[in-house]
Amino acid sequence: MQDDPSNRDALQALLDFHVEAGVDLALDETPHDRFAEPKAEPRPVKPLEPQREPPRAPAAAPPPARSLPKAAASAPEEVASLAREQARHAQSLEELEAILAGFEGCALKFSAKNLAFADGNPGGRVMLVGEAPGADEDRIGKPFMGRSGQLLDRMLAAVGLDRTQVYVANIVPWRPPGNRTPTPQEIAICKPFIARQIELAAPEFLLCLGGPATQNLLGVKDGILRTRGRWLPYKTEDGREIRALPTLHPAYLLRQPLQKRLGWRDFQALRRALDGND
Ligand code: URA
Repeated sequence: MQDDPSNRDALQALLDFHVEAGVDLALDETPHDRFAEPKAEPRPVKPLEPQREPPRAPAAAPPPARSLPKAAASAPEEVASLAREQARHAQSLEELEAILAGFEGCALKFSAKNLAFADGNPGGRVMLVGEAPGADEDRIGKPFMGRSGQLLDRMLAAVGLDRTQVYVANIVPWRPPGNRTPTPQEIAICKPFIARQIELAAPEFLLCLGGPATQNLLGVKDGILRTRGRWLPYKTEDGREIRALPTLHPAYLLRQPLQKRLGWRDFQALRRALDGND
């Protein structure tokens, strides 16, 4: 394109359009016309393998037997089944993080800068689970590092807690481009990992931050404004029950500051539970 001002304006308008639509990174040097490419043959879906008991010993689990296919080339059910198999292998949080770091079944891994696995104290009585990392978390490689994280820290401090006492993670550990909500497929693929993370951390109390964490971990259909503030059971795969409290996501509270009073009530409920008064 020649360098005349009208071309530059058109290019700028196109760029602005993409940024507004949430496109904030380029995955390739050259554009591809996907509509012009020949359609791939649908791949046959392999039947799910029967569930196996997780191996209990030794401490250093052997590498998973099956290697993972690349996300783009595999059926989501197949990838989710492999994710379950891989997550079950982890016998410690360190192993789980290492397995997740090598997992290539979720396409978000390839656009994210870092895996944001966890922050805080994995031995704490409370675990908080959010949705997915944003730009700050992606850059630093830990959950809740940006503005939402700062508000979260203030809410924790208001009930006498900080990150040396709580453990923090997300249902999806890689940043979705443009901070979009993770798709149901991405959540389904990542869910076995967060489920195993909760199982291994074994907190006494689980705080689900926002609708996606609440719906996907607790299996509720209602929106977060209906569900928040009520203790519900979270069942681990190995049959334990953890008391879980859905609450509003700090990013929502930043947008709707008047709703902070509801968040404040939920954090007080957590405090009472920690003190044995609820
Ligand atoms: N929002 C989340 O749900 N998680 C983070 O880590 C940051 C923002």
